[in-house]
Amino acid sequence: MESPTPARHPLPWIFQGGGLRQFGSSRYPEDAAAANKMRIMSHDLERVAESLVADGKGILAADETAPTLTKRFDILGIASTEQSRRTYREMLFTSPGAADFISGAIMYDETIRQKTSDGMPFAKELESQGIVPGIKVDTGAKPFAASPDETVTEGLDGLRDRLREYRKMGARFAKWRAVFHVTDSLPSAACVSANAHALARYASLCQEQDLVPIVEPEVLMEGSHFIGRCERVTSVVLHTVFDALFEQGVVLEAMLLKPNMVIAGKQCAQQASVEEVADATLTCLRRYVPAAVSGIVFLSGGQSARLATVHLNAINRIESRKPWKISFSYGRALQDPALEAWHGRDEYLAAGQRAFCHRACLNGAATLGKYTCEMEASSASEDETPLGRDWHDD
Ligand code: 13P
Repeated sequence: MESPTPARHPLPWIFQGGGLRQFGSSRYPEDAAAANKMRIMSHDLERVAESLVADGKGILAADETAPTLTKRFDILGIASTEQSRRTYREMLFTSPGAADFISGAIMYDETIRQKTSDGMPFAKELESQGIVPGIKVDTGAKPFAASPDETVTEGLDGLRDRLREYRKMGARFAKWRAVFHVTDSLPSAACVSANAHALARYASLCQEQDLVPIVEPEVLMEGSHFIGRCERVTSVVLHTVFDALFEQGVVLEAMLLKPNMVIAGKQCAQQASVEEVADATLTCLRRYVPAAVSGIVFLSGGQSARLATVHLNAINRIESRKPWKISFSYGRALQDPALEAWHGRDEYLAAGQRAFCHRACLNGAATLGKYTCEMEASSASEDETPLGRDWHDD
């Protein structure tokens, strides 16, 4: 049996001589050997985090659980079997040219155990193209006992062992998603703090096990709230999450944040303009996300493929100070056009790959603020795709 890994993270405060003492500017423990080990690991993790937000690139979130992917397949009448899900993921992961715009791909447990039709494990296939393999490690948002209309994300039990296994299988980063429903009275403080605590415990364990954590606190678009309410909730959530990350000693340089954009609720009669969304999002992030974080990779959250690109581009075009790289980690907004083009048919696999690569290219341009709507030309029907608007990962 392997011995438990020694604690690697500096707690931000230590009790010494009867008083609290801060580590000050150092993020390393003061014991020399531990400090050295941590410096090396942390440096490697920082390099992985930075590579995930390399210029012109972003992350493919292809980590839907089998039940969630089944819902998406159902809409198009595609039978969901282990084999059809494997074929679909292989189509995405082997799209010619996609690696020019895709830095990393997040898989689900079933997927990381699968292989290409040539027998290559998916993690190795991705790696061979320079795409960093990643893994979703939470076990889903479950009803929150303290507030029945909200959820808390589970998956901490046994997480250290699962992370160890995924790391051996080739994963270099992980993802954990917490979700927050918005109403006039939600999210509750209890829900925000429980989810923030779990995110921080997950992130700390990831770094201990040599994986870059993607911390995903998602304020949902469902609802009729105005953009100002989304900004307020996102601010409180980010503040609470970074407090918890600090408390758990998470190295900010060796993680990525995956937030929602600040946007009006889907059912709100007054939708904000692209400029308003970009301004409100950047303002909120600048106030609540420490500059040390390596990168921000947005989720698409149910926006159409095109709007998710337009918003990302507008955020990157704002000329004011941005201390982190700003990119994407889209699920639906990257996959919907490809899934629609493929439709579960072998003869359309190449069309699915072209649609995926095209969308990845447009989002790559948006990370540099270089997207224009003329670039959409070859994908005129993409925005009409109704897929996925109403489903959520569990
Ligand atoms: P969407 O881009 O579809 O919101 O998915 C991102 C994701 O990874 C959800 O956890």
